[in-house]
Amino acid sequence: MENFNELQNEILRLKKEKNALILAHYYVPLEVQDVADAVCDSFAMAQKAAKAEQDLIVVCGVRFMGESAKILSPAKTVLLPAPDAGCPMADMVTPGDVLRLRAEHPKAKVMCYVNSSAAVKAVSDVCCTSSSALRIAKNLDSEEIIFVPDVHLGSFVAARVPEKKFWLHNGFCPTHHKITEADVLAAKRAHPEAVFAVHPECGDDVVKHGDLVGSTAEILDFARRTEAKEILIGTEGEIVARLRRELPEKRVWGVGAAFVCPNMKKVTPEALFECMRDEKYKVELPEDQLRRARESLDRMVNS
Ligand code: 13P
Ligand code: SF4
Repeated sequence: MENFNELQNEILRLKKEKNALILAHYYVPLEVQDVADAVCDSFAMAQKAAKAEQDLIVVCGVRFMGESAKILSPAKTVLLPAPDAGCPMADMVTPGDVLRLRAEHPKAKVMCYVNSSAAVKAVSDVCCTSSSALRIAKNLDSEEIIFVPDVHLGSFVAARVPEKKFWLHNGFCPTHHKITEADVLAAKRAHPEAVFAVHPECGDDVVKHGDLVGSTAEILDFARRTEAKEILIGTEGEIVARLRRELPEKRVWGVGAAFVCPNMKKVTPEALFECMRDEKYKVELPEDQLRRARESLDRMVNS
């Protein structure tokens, strides 16, 4: 990427000097995405962290993403530029909730969305992301599945794997939950030629209108490949900004107002620079948690 500003150049200098790998999620500001070695959805981020050759991995995303990188690459130093960037959905389920659900449904295996704490991953059987959830649910050697924490992704998967019985937890993403069916219908009326790509963290009544339902990376791929000239996007606003920059020949609109993940926006270029300069905000996890969470994440990455 050309035309870096001074701070971005400083970050690139530090990256070289410290031989760091910078991984960024598609929801962090574009200025941060532009200095990353890879911009990823959650699945690709986990894969890249697992295969990292560098000793220093900087995760530009929310806490569970940093924890997953540490779990998959425990010998590496993992830095999280915005240590207070949490994911409210991840906080909606505790290890106690998982153990209670296990006691209530003893034949079920626990599938946990990667948007969860390391402590929850440690008491689950397998993790998944939005791009891998369907495949993992189909292949899991159990007729019954407890799915935590996202009720929307869980019900999306349950509807497409009817041969299995699902027990869903009631978590949700406050950002994606805000978008309503009325928002989608209004956007479709305003742009009748447009196709609609939506994230499965939205509710069923929103997702059912999607021409594509997928992860952030799958939404971007769909937008690049579609022959449609107008695209409605049902996910966080940085995806809209990225597509408008990348595909100036197409017209791209977000559905609904103020579709922002405030935690991802805490990962500013300033925060990234200071974190790398001072090598601060290391992700540390208890040994036992690390080991048990790794089993669930390894099953996902190798699925
Ligand atoms: P993706 O795996 O689609 O990037 O989703 C991560 C996320 O937090 C969506 O809100
Ligand atoms: Fe969590 Fe939602 Fe933000 Fe994704 S968009 S990180 S699910 S709060």
